[in-house]
Amino acid sequence: MKIIKAKDYKDMSRKAANIISAQVIMKPESVLGLATGSTPIGTYAQLVEWYQKGDLDFSGVTTVNLDEYKGLTRDNDQSYYYFMNDHLFSKVNIDKSRTFLPDGTEADSDKACADYNRVIASVGGVDLQLLGLGHNGHIGFNEPNDIFEAETHCVNLTESTVKANQRFFASMDDVPKQAYTMGIKTIMQAKKILVVVSGEDKAAIVKEAFFGPVTPKVQASILQFHKDVIVVADEAALSLI
Ligand code: F6R
Repeated sequence: MKIIKAKDYKDMSRKAANIISAQVIMKPESVLGLATGSTPIGTYAQLVEWYQKGDLDFSGVTTVNLDEYKGLTRDNDQSYYYFMNDHLFSKVNIDKSRTFLPDGTEADSDKACADYNRVIASVGGVDLQLLGLGHNGHIGFNEPNDIFEAETHCVNLTESTVKANQRFFASMDDVPKQAYTMGIKTIMQAKKILVVVSGEDKAAIVKEAFFGPVTPKVQASILQFHKDVIVVADEAALSLI
């Protein structure tokens, strides 16, 4: 595991974007595994800026995202599809037919997960997987557990997550209670993994996940066993190391 120290969020975003652009330049047909959340927003913005300057070409790139809320349509501004479109896909020359997320509108969880496993297999594996890190060590929606779930599965969101999301929806009934997420085996099969972390509030989990014991209670700790992981974190997130 390589840890790259960035000065602040902006520097973290630029360094992470540099790694992703190097991947796309070296292999224009790359399969990128992508994440949502607040941390990668600056990374995507930087990639868009370089694309607009003519330095990057996404025309050969395929993407598979980590997760999606069950029950949300693509035009719902809280869906991860909407997020990806908003921050990246609509702003670069990527072929939208090669951008994949689990289908949140598929009510049959088994089918949604099996379909997404097939999509991941069909793109031939992930070259570079971008990850954020949850405060409890989750990656994707793989929450603290007694086991590492291997492939795409449906998770029940914790009460605190559902409550925290309430503010984005008209009523409690509209708040998604479940999500589809890539599993740990799939994440670990990516050739290269890039984790972005920012902020003092992540310092404790950075220490636990990357310097503590490997355990499904801290799902990100499994990344210690991957042969090519780069963590780009700002000084605040590394303040306990
Ligand atoms: C997003 C995802 C999550 C986030 C994590 C960190 O697709 O799968 O695991 O990466 O919750 O979120 P932020 O970046 O908002 O702190």
